[in-house]
Amino acid sequence: MSKANYSTKYTIGFAAAVCIVCSILVSTSAVTLRDRQEANKKLDRQKNVLVATGLIEPEGDLSRKQITDLYEEKIRPLVVDMKTGEVKEDIDPAQFDQRFAMKNEATSRRAPENPAKVQRVPNHGLVYQVMDGDGVKMIVLPVQGMGLWSTLYGYLALEADTTTIAGIAFYEHGETPGLGGEIESPGWQAKWIGRKAFDEDWEPRIRVIKGEAGEPDEDPYQVDGLTGATLTANGVTELVRFWISDEGYGRYLAKFREQERGS
Ligand SMILES: Cc1cc2nc3c(=O)[nH]c(=O)nc-3n(C[C@H](O)[C@H](O)[C@H](O)COP(=O)(O)O)c2cc1C
Repeated sequence: MSKANYSTKYTIGFAAAVCIVCSILVSTSAVTLRDRQEANKKLDRQKNVLVATGLIEPEGDLSRKQITDLYEEKIRPLVVDMKTGEVKEDIDPAQFDQRFAMKNEATSRRAPENPAKVQRVPNHGLVYQVMDGDGVKMIVLPVQGMGLWSTLYGYLALEADTTTIAGIAFYEHGETPGLGGEIESPGWQAKWIGRKAFDEDWEPRIRVIKGEAGEPDEDPYQVDGLTGATLTANGVTELVRFWISDEGYGRYLAKFREQERGS
């Protein structure tokens, strides 16, 4: 068989040309897909907030437009000051990236040691109010913290009394499917509905137990455990408690209650 005999110059030139063509292709697709990726991220966030409120099913087949229309009709996003609980009218929630703010030293502070293993708390945080006419029907809070293997990300929906749980939804985690991964299961998430996040003194009280809890009206502070996944379940308890405490959204929730009493 004859063997092609290319000069070194030709081989290097050819390899360089392949590299240039590939890098142009990769960078062009990164640039052209960026808008679509951003739009998908936004839609995903809107969907997850709606799932936590129970307004849509996690596996529902609503179109992009239906989700966006429902979100725009029902949800009022706000940015709040985590230290004072005041609403920050000057920050546009649509432009606010909480995960980025949490990582950045200029826009977050170190969290005190806590069992949810939250490292940093953003100076400002997103809140989603669910509107019913002119009144607020629910408040949805982003929550996150360590499970067994990974950071769990979710939303907790509270009724306007700021303690009755209207829903919870976890949308991102790296726990084991069938064990810790069951935090995604709609059946388990439904067990939270109607239970109380705080006790009568406004101390965070809700927790996931090992085994089965009673009905919400008899056993308001306990949620059924996850079989074989007590460590993930403990992580959920701690992260929910952290974000409703004064280290998280507690001050905003207290301000909200004050305003509701005054109105
Ligand atoms: C391969 C493997 C994956 C596991 N994944 C999880 C998990 O995602 N979440 C969790 O809490 N426990 C997980 N466990 C089990 C924990 O090590 C621990 O045994 C369990 O959380 C204790 O829960 P239990 O008291 O309900 O059995 C896993 C165990 C193995 C061997």
